[in-house]
Amino acid sequence: MNTDQERDDDDDDDDYLDNDDDDYADDEWPLSRLQKEMVAVAWVNELAEGQFKQVEVNGQAFIIAEAHGLIYALADQCGHEDYPLSYGCIHGDTIKCSLHGSRFDLLTGFPLDEPAELPVPVYRVVVGFDRVWIDPREPVDPEEYYHEVKGY
Ligand code: FES
Repeated sequence: MNTDQERDDDDDDDDYLDNDDDDYADDEWPLSRLQKEMVAVAWVNELAEGQFKQVEVNGQAFIIAEAHGLIYALADQCGHEDYPLSYGCIHGDTIKCSLHGSRFDLLTGFPLDEPAELPVPVYRVVVGFDRVWIDPREPVDPEEYYHEVKGY
């Protein structure tokens, strides 16, 4: 599992968000870095297995989804046409567009079915301090991110 995504269940962090660099989501993500590079978009307990939530950051819509213990962030736009993926539903590790039925891998954004041919942009997720943080500035490289999250 991606260590960025390990849930932070340490009760010592209940007084979080006090800008104390001793507080870490994990080794690479002290609170100060999270606040500088990421945006908190949801409380962890707002999500549940197989469900998603639409969030907006600076006018851009994202989908935050949970599947098999991981949390994913994708642009809320189908890779086929200009249509919100948030009208669709989660199927396992994919999200299915409700207009023409293409499914997209939640981790890479790659389409698994026609008619979509283009991937959906995916964004980095870090879970820490009871929140889900995303980096909305630019999508990740899906192949690199896949290996990073899977750990191989
Ligand atoms: S608009 Fe999503 S599959 Fe066509």
